[in-house]
Amino acid sequence: MSDHNLAKGIPIPMHYGQFDDTNREFVITDPLTPAPWTQYLGNTRLAAFISQQAGGLTFYREPQNRRISRYHWLPTPQDRPGFYVYVRDHATRTTWNPHFAPTCAELEHFECRHGLGYTRFTGRRDGVEAGVRYYIPPDLDIMVWDVTISNSSNTEKTLTVSSYLEFGLLEFFREFFWCYLKNQISFEYEQQANWIKYVYHCFEAPFTPAVFFTCTRQADGFDCSRDAFVGRGGSVDRPAMTMTGSQLPGGGHGCAALGVNLQLKPGQHERFAYILGIADDWEQAEILRKKALDIDAAAAGLAGYWNRKTQVVQVTTGDAHFDRCVNVWNPLNCQVTLERTRDISVDHTGFDGMRYRDTMQDALAVATFDPEFAKERIRLIFASQGSDGSGCFSFYPYAAKPKINLEPHRCDNTVWPILTVTNLIHETGDICFLDEVIPYRDSGKASVYEHIRLGLRHIWDRRGPTGLPTLFDADWNDGLAVFRDPKAESVMLGMQMVYACNLLKPFAAMRGRDADVAWCEQVAKELDAILNSDAVWDGKWYRRLLLSNGMKLGSAARPQGKIYLEPQVWSVLSGVGRDGRGRMAMDAARELLNTSRGLMIVTPPYTGIPNPEDPLTSNVPGTGENGAIFCHANTWAIIAECILGRGDFAMEYYRKMLPSVAAEEIGQDHWGREPYVFNSTITGPARGDDFGKAGISWLTGTASWMYIAATQYILGLQPALDGLHVKPCLPSTWKKVVVQRVFRGKMREIAMPCAERFIPA
Ligand code: GLC
Repeated sequence: MSDHNLAKGIPIPMHYGQFDDTNREFVITDPLTPAPWTQYLGNTRLAAFISQQAGGLTFYREPQNRRISRYHWLPTPQDRPGFYVYVRDHATRTTWNPHFAPTCAELEHFECRHGLGYTRFTGRRDGVEAGVRYYIPPDLDIMVWDVTISNSSNTEKTLTVSSYLEFGLLEFFREFFWCYLKNQISFEYEQQANWIKYVYHCFEAPFTPAVFFTCTRQADGFDCSRDAFVGRGGSVDRPAMTMTGSQLPGGGHGCAALGVNLQLKPGQHERFAYILGIADDWEQAEILRKKALDIDAAAAGLAGYWNRKTQVVQVTTGDAHFDRCVNVWNPLNCQVTLERTRDISVDHTGFDGMRYRDTMQDALAVATFDPEFAKERIRLIFASQGSDGSGCFSFYPYAAKPKINLEPHRCDNTVWPILTVTNLIHETGDICFLDEVIPYRDSGKASVYEHIRLGLRHIWDRRGPTGLPTLFDADWNDGLAVFRDPKAESVMLGMQMVYACNLLKPFAAMRGRDADVAWCEQVAKELDAILNSDAVWDGKWYRRLLLSNGMKLGSAARPQGKIYLEPQVWSVLSGVGRDGRGRMAMDAARELLNTSRGLMIVTPPYTGIPNPEDPLTSNVPGTGENGAIFCHANTWAIIAECILGRGDFAMEYYRKMLPSVAAEEIGQDHWGREPYVFNSTITGPARGDDFGKAGISWLTGTASWMYIAATQYILGLQPALDGLHVKPCLPSTWKKVVVQRVFRGKMREIAMPCAERFIPA
């Protein structure tokens, strides 16, 4: 595949930042990144995302009905508002931000460091240096803005420093259609507590917490009204910042601006913190406020929290990209993705809740380093399952009125749980989780085992004429929904059913469920025969979908969509691709789908909309499921190559998924998104000069599966009930690898290359 397009029309790559591996940080030195390069802060309750310009918002548990502050998605490219600290220098009469935006006043020095659970800014102007470290500790529902202001000049400085946080209505979507609700909230400053209180009186609101914003130093001035803070004709970019002492007892647009006056002699510095807090009621808020004032205690827990998660797998291979990914950024990405599922980011506005299948896959990797959190999420997912075994599309367990969306109807929802539960049980060795009883969404309750079994039965009972599972709206590949053929049969899901039944079988045997053992064997056998029949095997690869009108997608005979990636990789994962077919299928994928940036999901992409021959597709060629490099599916190609024993191919595909590698090779400008977290897609070659641009970042199934690909397949650390099996599949260029793996509470050190090994539990 030629990449000549990349050479055309691309500006000279700009460089915005680099990794600081010693401190486990990504350091951004130019705030004008091509898109907001964000970080998530939070415990599993209070959360925020924050960009390299301190843009972002905060919310409690979920961003629909418990959103605390505002962020705007649709205006012209901008990243506003956020968590702002303004510095006004009275001598020079300038107002600036250590995080550059929103004043965008020039800085002599700028640095944004995204680290594990925190973001730290340093900005310097006219001999004043301002540092702010933002974080949310694991055990307190507060967001700390730890501020240090230093005078590095040789003149005395008279400064006013102010915070700015723009409050929104907690019920985010209602903010757009009920202006009257503004009468039901109030923002007032109380001097004794030195806090701004956001009181939510909305009588219909299911959640009326106590939200406060305070400072460890007594404020010298304040504004609770956004409009007063920015001033007539002003904006957050150019605020009046006169500290008028405005309050909004009768509602309006609230903000938290607490002003601090500083008189700093040369060499002197001052440190204080702004604190946003949330509690159930004002009594609790008062207790929290007092605790929060000890910010050093709050900070202490954060490092330990991340050390515990990251120490589970630590590797030294000599490949800096691989090591930093596995040791730091991939676990962070996985944890955030499981916490946030697909709810909010600079791409997601807060509309999406948790997703049955996506969240289940997100829990797959987290089961390795935080099995308790993975379990918590698995329980929520199973509680959204119907007693007929059906899954759902999305659910909102923390919403005001918990709701469950059954549609769109993805046929693969309930194939995923066995993968995650198996990994969890293999990690912990605690098979009793299978017996835990969880209610169904409609009526009754059953064990985890039964939820899994019934979910697989649900798929099996809905087969088409060839004997493969039917598609309904779509399977894992959302893009297939455009074929609008609920009776189409899914090759991918057929293969996944084989994989799932092979995983369920040993558990069925351990639980003495002989009929289930027999059922698993029968399903796997029947499907294996169909999947290797002429209906599905195309000669060099596996087809993708059998439409009810007889058309077969993913066939060499088709003018477009000749080959899809998913059935090739799953033929190897499931073992269906026997007698050399799995290898042939992966060779075909390599020949026809591989590009310098990864494997396309399908080729040729569908064009000519609408085209009676090849039906309408909703994605432009080269984007999304229509010919982009779909990263999530590429992770399975890495695994498939490891299973085939081709370590060099596996590493080639792995590195192509690494944003740090891609951003280095094609330039951070062209890549566009954060070099430290994964993407859902990379634009495909059909998009010409846009080929190689990163798509949606952070919240993607790529994160979880990349962790599994790296730890369980490339490094080959495969947990099982009896212990840790070590079956590495390393690239030929790696000479020495050392892995530290905490397994069942004990640290194990494993040196590679090694022949297969086994470490008993
Ligand atoms: C997106 C969706 C996921 C889907 C995938 C492929 O990542 O969140 O549910 O499986 O696209 O279409």
